[in-house]
Amino acid sequence: MLSQEQNNLLTQCGPQAPMGRFMRSFWIPAMTADQVPAADEPPVRLTLLNERLVVFRDTQGRVGVMEENCPHRGASLFFGRNEEGGLRCVYHGWKFDVDGNCMQMPAEPANSRMCQNVKARAYSARIAGAVLWVYMGEADTVPDLPAFGFMGQPEDHLYASRWQQECNYAQAMEGELDSAHVSFLHRALNTIDPDHQALTGKYFQEDTAPLWKILSNGAGFMACNGRSVDGDKRYWRINQFLLPFFTMIPPRPGDAQLVRMWVPMTDERCWVICVSWRPDGPLNEQELKAWRNGENSHRKVIPGSTLPVERLDNDYLIDRLEQKTVSFTGIKGIRAQDAMVTETAGSIVDRTREHLGASDIAVVAMRRALMEGAALCANSGLPHPVAAQAWLYSARAVQAVLPEDQKLETADDFLSGARAVQPVAP
Ligand code: FES
Ligand SMILES: [Fe+2]
Repeated sequence: MLSQEQNNLLTQCGPQAPMGRFMRSFWIPAMTADQVPAADEPPVRLTLLNERLVVFRDTQGRVGVMEENCPHRGASLFFGRNEEGGLRCVYHGWKFDVDGNCMQMPAEPANSRMCQNVKARAYSARIAGAVLWVYMGEADTVPDLPAFGFMGQPEDHLYASRWQQECNYAQAMEGELDSAHVSFLHRALNTIDPDHQALTGKYFQEDTAPLWKILSNGAGFMACNGRSVDGDKRYWRINQFLLPFFTMIPPRPGDAQLVRMWVPMTDERCWVICVSWRPDGPLNEQELKAWRNGENSHRKVIPGSTLPVERLDNDYLIDRLEQKTVSFTGIKGIRAQDAMVTETAGSIVDRTREHLGASDIAVVAMRRALMEGAALCANSGLPHPVAAQAWLYSARAVQAVLPEDQKLETADDFLSGARAVQPVAP
């Protein structure tokens, strides 16, 4: 349970809010690389951390991320003309380059020097790992991009998608960190997957109250949760949480790795960006087809949009007959099931009224890490130190069945124990 003040601190991400300032220490994933318009194409809108922005690419292919409203009298630059190295506002013709410098003010007298004194608010932007990253903090403290395993991988090793979720980023992410729900929310009624480690497999059915251990990974924590197997072993899932909103859950043996990003759009809505990747080779056609169809790690959206097909305003297309015979929820798609339980709690869940149990330990750890991060930045007036430690982001989520009597106390015990069972490709 949180106080109302704590809930506000956790959930408010605008430029003046402590959590928003803390988040602006980090590179923010904003959209997939293929959602960035081509050179000289019209700009697209982007709402990020409560700021309305436009994204465009100039004639040279450089990406510009700029405040949507023109610094003259506020007209939207979304309606602007992307022409010859800059974006021109159609109201009075002011034109800006990707850095926000004013290039022309054709409605001012020829001898006016005003153009040199006006700048549009523009942010540093880079494309890496099939994602557009935006740095919304102070321009003199731009850190390196986080060194996720997928950064720098060849294009055919990567698949990224983005969809919108109708709730605050924190409660969307809580659904990812809370592994206990898998035994219920994602349960199949008509089948048990022969792979015991599958979400609809035996391990999740036979022990529905996992043991938890939270251990630091330097940039957040590892949420280790273990389910009893045959009385003398435990199936451990070692999930990763990395400040401020990155999560990794372990793939099944042979499956692609994934990183999910829970990015505030406004305080009441968030982006979910998911990158699936293989360190050791190209993705295969079968998995690509499934992801494009919104299966497994990705969500089905209306083509050309970020709006999910199964969503809040259509009751996620629930099928009550299937709820009796096929699945616990009657809702198709793991990600749609996750969205249903987090969105229906309200756009900002009232955490003064909740009742947390032992299964919520990772949720509590995440809230604490975020609120401590926000407090640290508020007190120091500086970016969060983890943002400058890019290498911490190369963490991986792993899983393994380990003997019950194996010593598992430190992060290294868990990681080396799991890797001994299931080697992880570099
Ligand atoms: S409002 Fe944009 S040029 Fe005037
Ligand atoms: Fe889930």
